[in-house]
Amino acid sequence: MTGKSYNRRLWLDGCLDFFHYGHSNAILQAKQLGDQLVVGVHSDEEITLHKGPPVQNLSERCLAAITCKWVNEVVPYAPYVFDLAWMRKYKCQFVVHGDDVSTDAEGNDCYRHAKAVNQYLEVKRTDGISTTELLDRLLNSTPLSTYSISPSNIMTYESILRSFASAPNGRYLDVNIYMYTPSGLEEIIPGVFSNKVKLEKSVLYLDGNWSLFTGMHMKTLKACAETFPDLPIVVGLFADDKCTEKPVLNLLERTLNLLQCKYVSAVIIDPPSAKSYNILESLKVKFGSLIEDVSYPDIFVKDQNTYQVTLREEPTESFHILDKQGSEAIKQRILSKKQ
Ligand code: CTP
Repeated sequence: MTGKSYNRRLWLDGCLDFFHYGHSNAILQAKQLGDQLVVGVHSDEEITLHKGPPVQNLSERCLAAITCKWVNEVVPYAPYVFDLAWMRKYKCQFVVHGDDVSTDAEGNDCYRHAKAVNQYLEVKRTDGISTTELLDRLLNSTPLSTYSISPSNIMTYESILRSFASAPNGRYLDVNIYMYTPSGLEEIIPGVFSNKVKLEKSVLYLDGNWSLFTGMHMKTLKACAETFPDLPIVVGLFADDKCTEKPVLNLLERTLNLLQCKYVSAVIIDPPSAKSYNILESLKVKFGSLIEDVSYPDIFVKDQNTYQVTLREEPTESFHILDKQGSEAIKQRILSKKQ
């Protein structure tokens, strides 16, 4: 599908289990076909009935859609077998799906009712990524070398990076991507963040592995954005071989997860740890804030320019602790569902 249509409200639904860039790429492509995008999320019970139990529950799966910048509205309990009445209730004219056939428990096409009335649109499914692939990496300890991507190769994927750096309408470039180099930060994808920031402006800076992109990560970013609505959030992403533990997602996948998240204004690839180096000075603006990046944060102001984020339960030192807990928790859940 190409071409631009105005005042088109579209519907996309799915399980969105273990949200990954294949899901967000489908959402982005759907958004580019219209103006408003409503995302329906299936219930745990329906997914279990038609396909097998999801790893994440409905709230966690909805949170992923809520925090995705291209989504206008999220509808929980959307039927697994597409129902025109639901789409019409949300005033959508077409349903959008990836170009793979989704079937129900009886083996019938889930979108047959939309196809019958020509209210079905297709976008390209993203190769090389799936919930199963990610679960395999978590459970089987796939060697990092088989999926790792180095910072020097990241621009091989310039096209998808540019599309994910787009604004909430899925069109013009919005989020800045920087690469750390010893002589400073190089802007590899120019968004509007660098123009927006005034010399005296502060940002919230969170560096870390971002090994997975789970509810904890989303809630951390959401809490930061809600606590400091005027401060842009800049995220530093360690290179695959510099993460404090083996990342489940590679550098490209981790970058894409952050770019699609509506709270992120800029991403810095391969920075040194902010504990040892003042990365923010490299942005050539006076940033005063450095935060400890952990889950479910309690945020408090240390002084005029410094904000501290700590775990509600126990203070922790850096994001790798969150990642470790996140990976372990997910692994346990998958194993318990397999029994
Ligand atoms: N999708 C995609 N590319 C992928 C995975 C999913 O374009 N690699 C699209 C699907 O075609 C669908 C939407 O994302 O339009 C939501 O799909 P969902 O039901 O959540 O996922 P699955 O198709 O089951 O894929 P996965 O097993 O990876 O979750």
